[in-house]
Amino acid sequence: MRITNEQNDIESVLFSEKKISARVEELGAELTKLYKDKAPIMVCILKGASFFYTDLCRQIKCPIHMDFISVSSYGADSQSSGVVRLIKDLDNNITDRDVVIVEDIIDSGLTIRYLKELFQSRKPRSIRTVCLLDKVECHPADIGTDLKGFDIGNQFVVGYGLDYADNYRNLPYIGVLKPECYM
Ligand code: IMP
Ligand code: MG
Repeated sequence: MRITNEQNDIESVLFSEKKISARVEELGAELTKLYKDKAPIMVCILKGASFFYTDLCRQIKCPIHMDFISVSSYGADSQSSGVVRLIKDLDNNITDRDVVIVEDIIDSGLTIRYLKELFQSRKPRSIRTVCLLDKVECHPADIGTDLKGFDIGNQFVVGYGLDYADNYRNLPYIGVLKPECYM
């Protein structure tokens, strides 16, 4: 277990708590407009999206249902393994439902593409994706996300749910990890 002060491993803060919460409020307002009277199933991709998901759901001012799915593409690495594994499936049947996939970050786009294909096969009424962060340079434009919080460059970030080897998730802000911490 890490016993160092995790704050010391952060090179710079990209998004402060205040900035994140203001943007999450805006995204919540957009979703409220889109899903009024639809009771969408909000799907949290564990574990990285957990803080974003709970904050976002509280900003949606209409009825929703909550569900959780767990996939893994990174393992204990800072590079995607290129293979997505399903670890825990949804509890709900999504056939004929409006589904909103909530993801922490889109990098190669593999995870979001995998989940969209998996969910499409279950015949939902609609699917949208919401990602807090988008590494726009790292994936083809056609694998983008429908709604997003912020664009970022090709850098490894942690905090607000995002981890490196399961560390740093509970930092309240999003920061760039010092390269020596993952090399
Ligand atoms: P993708 O499948 O390559 O788009 O990777 C998406 C997943 O990789 C996310 O759900 C994150 O868990 C993880 N990931 C990608 N980039 C980062 C990062 O900068 N920091 C922490 N996790 C990341
Ligand atoms: Mg992760």
